[in-house]
Amino acid sequence: MSGPTALKASLLDPHVCVIGAGTMGRGIAQIAVAAGHAVSLVDPDAGQLQAAVADIRSRLNRKHPELATDLETRLLCAKSIDAVPAAADTLVVEAVVEDLAVKATVFAQAWDHFGPGCLLATNTSSLSITEIAAATADPTRVVGLHFFNPVPVMRLVEVIRGLDTDQEVVARVAALARSWGKEVAHVRSAPGFIVNRVARPFYGESLRLLEEQTASAEIIDEVLRGAGQFRMGPFELMDLIGNDVNFTVTSTVWRAFNFDARYAPSQLQAELVAAGRLGRKSGRGFYRYDLDADRPQPPPATSRADCPERVVMHGDSPQLAALLERAGITPQAGETGQTPSVEFPGQGMVVVTRGCTAQLESSSLGAPVAVLDLCLDPSTVDRLALASTDPDLLASLVALLSRAGVAAFPIADAPGLIVARVMSMIANEAWEAAHQGIATTEDIDSAMILGTNYPMGPFRWSEEWTPAVVLQVLDELATEYRDPRYRPSIRLRAAARTRTLSQSARSSAVSTGL
Ligand code: NAI
Repeated sequence: MSGPTALKASLLDPHVCVIGAGTMGRGIAQIAVAAGHAVSLVDPDAGQLQAAVADIRSRLNRKHPELATDLETRLLCAKSIDAVPAAADTLVVEAVVEDLAVKATVFAQAWDHFGPGCLLATNTSSLSITEIAAATADPTRVVGLHFFNPVPVMRLVEVIRGLDTDQEVVARVAALARSWGKEVAHVRSAPGFIVNRVARPFYGESLRLLEEQTASAEIIDEVLRGAGQFRMGPFELMDLIGNDVNFTVTSTVWRAFNFDARYAPSQLQAELVAAGRLGRKSGRGFYRYDLDADRPQPPPATSRADCPERVVMHGDSPQLAALLERAGITPQAGETGQTPSVEFPGQGMVVVTRGCTAQLESSSLGAPVAVLDLCLDPSTVDRLALASTDPDLLASLVALLSRAGVAAFPIADAPGLIVARVMSMIANEAWEAAHQGIATTEDIDSAMILGTNYPMGPFRWSEEWTPAVVLQVLDELATEYRDPRYRPSIRLRAAARTRTLSQSARSSAVSTGL
């Protein structure tokens, strides 16, 4: 074959040499075999190689039995790179231990063996691609290829360009990953890339809420699943990942960002690690796994109060309107310009959080206040956190929520409660990453959905809640805590301003009949 067709075939059909036959290496080798490449798997540990082949065979057997029976001809295992055929057109993917010196040595050996025609891809999850590349003979041919565990199942791959990575190398590796059935998110080399950076507040803010005794781990998990639509709550997820692993990733990102308060690791998690409470793998983390009994579900609040039948709706709040409709209550119309709220006559006001505590809202509204957490979909939400300055108002609100089919979890009066706080902080990280040109907003959204199973991307939920609301939650947190951790991204601030301007332009166009 010659000409463009041959070129295209060779671009998409290199020999693939995976170095490191552990959890990730064997997954990468499997998908490369399934895509029809000639694959070599290198690991000095013969036991690892044997276990990898057994694993790959049994997994391939389910979907590609023909490949499983024929595995020896497609997958060459070797204890050293020198035993692998030195095909000039080789994509090297290293998945050895997370150590810069080891990775640099492996790439130097691969370069000497395969020559300057090869491409060097690293599966590192936390090291700088630029730094790994700088230790090689040709940094233009080094790229990050960050798979997620389990590799054959997770659809996302982050393709990371170092400072000197050739754009064609990026394009070629991305095309290959797509031909292996993966979705590619393009990223510039920066700490945590997309997923391990943008996800930090999911853990960090939840840990702060627990540290401050705002609510139990069970309740934080419960409302983030119920109102935030996350598949797993942060504490059960940290227990699954391993508190040691999760703590190390946070600490690495924090160090790489010069100890920025945004990423500061939690003392509470450090304590758990020190105690050996690593999560599922050690039998105990935030929860216990060494007992036979299922984990108890946190009971929602019950109320003996009557559900108010007559309420007044002030301003415009889609969440409050939806909850009233679900409870079968038609509100009287109140004042349009006022803070969006539902008035329980003679009792007080109910608002959806904008980042202020109930106490602060109460002093500005001049009445008892109950604050409800935000949710992603008020028409289906089934669990919500709330706080109130007044027990009778709280009891009536719990009765109303119960009639609407929503389990209520009263918690301490914390700014931004749980879901609004955690998700606004995640969104802020996404806005900041986009602002710094780490990745596009589209790639960030799709990476967070595919890499972490988020219900939607952070830009999408910023749009659902509006950037102005996300910004306000962050501004209030920054005011309350006086901690630079909560400083909003200027790109988020600009988006909130643009939106407000275009809204006021629209409404003035309507009022002038344009
Ligand atoms: P692992 O510990 O399961 O496997 C590492 C393998 O590398 C071992 O089999 C070891 O014998 C081998 N090895 C060590 N030195 C070697 C050398 N000089 N030459 C060849 N092989 C060598 O590690 P795991 O979890 O597969 O991680 C590998 C890489 O992938 C790390 O950089 C890690 O940060 C990254 N990663 C891990 C993820 C995970 O969930 N485990 C997710 C994404 C990336």
